Amino acid sequence: MEFGVKISVIGCGYLGAVHAACMAELGHEVIGVDVDQSKIDVLSDGRAPFFEPGLPEILTSAIATGRLRFTTDMSEVADAEVHFVAVGTPQTKGSYAADLTYVDAAVDALIPHLAPGTLVVGKSTVPVGTAARLAEKVAAGAPQASLAWNPEFLREGFAVQDTLGPDRLVYGVPAGDAGERATAQLDEIYAVALAADTPRIVMDYATAELVKVSANAFLATKISFINAMAEVAEATGADVTMLADAIGHDVRIGRRFLNSGLGFGGGCLPKDIRAFRARGEELGLGESLAFLGEVDAINLRRRDRMVELTRESLGGSLKGKKIAVLGLAFKPDSDDVRDSPSLDVAARLLAEGALVTVTDPEAIETAKRVHPELAYESTVSDTVADADAVLVLTEWKQYRALTPEDLAGAAGTIILDGRNCLDRDLWRGAGWTYASLGRP
Ligand code: UDX
Repeated sequence: MEFGVKISVIGCGYLGAVHAACMAELGHEVIGVDVDQSKIDVLSDGRAPFFEPGLPEILTSAIATGRLRFTTDMSEVADAEVHFVAVGTPQTKGSYAADLTYVDAAVDALIPHLAPGTLVVGKSTVPVGTAARLAEKVAAGAPQASLAWNPEFLREGFAVQDTLGPDRLVYGVPAGDAGERATAQLDEIYAVALAADTPRIVMDYATAELVKVSANAFLATKISFINAMAEVAEATGADVTMLADAIGHDVRIGRRFLNSGLGFGGGCLPKDIRAFRARGEELGLGESLAFLGEVDAINLRRRDRMVELTRESLGGSLKGKKIAVLGLAFKPDSDDVRDSPSLDVAARLLAEGALVTVTDPEAIETAKRVHPELAYESTVSDTVADADAVLVLTEWKQYRALTPEDLAGAAGTIILDGRNCLDRDLWRGAGWTYASLGRP
């Protein structure tokens, strides 16, 4: 492609930084804007402010072509034709609802710079009804601009791949001519994906907003379903991983997202199901989404169970016991510890009097910011040295591949598998006490 669309991306966090770099990679001319000068400095230098495979490479190459720039100055977006809003919508302090402060601030800041015919595209995950409200704002402040909602489904660790080759494109657009124009503008931006026959579904704002939150609600429900089965398996001597394999062969069920263990965390699933429930309450639909409260509760109970299993394995008390925790990120291939089940369990074990040493291939720095009181080591052998028990809580590839010889420095021979990711027979065969969630 010779010269693509002029694009701005407001908010250069996880979503925005990846989106900006990928759009430039596709040939568009992109300016990324964020209020955080340090983030802009790092990105302008071609570095990613977080760990995401492949991102530094495309940042560097896109910056070198001159198609990608970053700034803190909103006025620099004035000649862009399409403006993506990719700011965060965190959980509000003291409530389950999404905090829309940043989304509103971004749209307010954009409005004075919107030229006629330009399009504002929301990418952030928002409660249903937000796009319609923001469209009114845009109509009042910049009557010749319009708004679309184009949710993002990227997974951390696969963010570049998911953005360059999404499995579907969802456009929430206004009715009539404005909707047709918005669709055409988005089609130009996503020309490469469309040429590869990526399904593209055009709909109203509310449906587009709901597609995103309901997709995450479904995924969270699938994980909590199998973790509820793990609770039943624990009480009956059944094996939840075999159960998942067996039911997963039914294509209507499918095996993916049926991995039982410590449950889901991260910057999306937990806060999105809570915000969805909160929005349901506001709409008088508390009953329709009440099950998400159960999904959340099942998920959090797995962390309690992990602490309990550790206590039981150590003879009934955690006090003074040396525990090694392998894995702090909420999932492998990420340095993200937002609502991380593993970090939460590590902190709880410490709070209950254990001596906890932790490590992670990428998330030590991010974890230290939240829980500086834990003891950090950079290698597995230093982490497990003299440990009474070793807990594998994030299924990094290098931890799945561990053998009893790698943990020879531990004082005890207890290994607890929080992700059902280890070979039980291998460890038991070597004389270790192996226990996990949902398996005898
Ligand atoms: C999720 C959605 O997958 C993505 O589409 C959306 O855009 C953002 O939220 P992400 O947060 O990156 O993506 O992580 P995901 O891979 O979905 O995993 C979420 C959590 O569920 C992790 O803590 C993971 O360990 C856990 N998980 C996942 C399970 O416990 N079992 C599974 O079978 C799958």
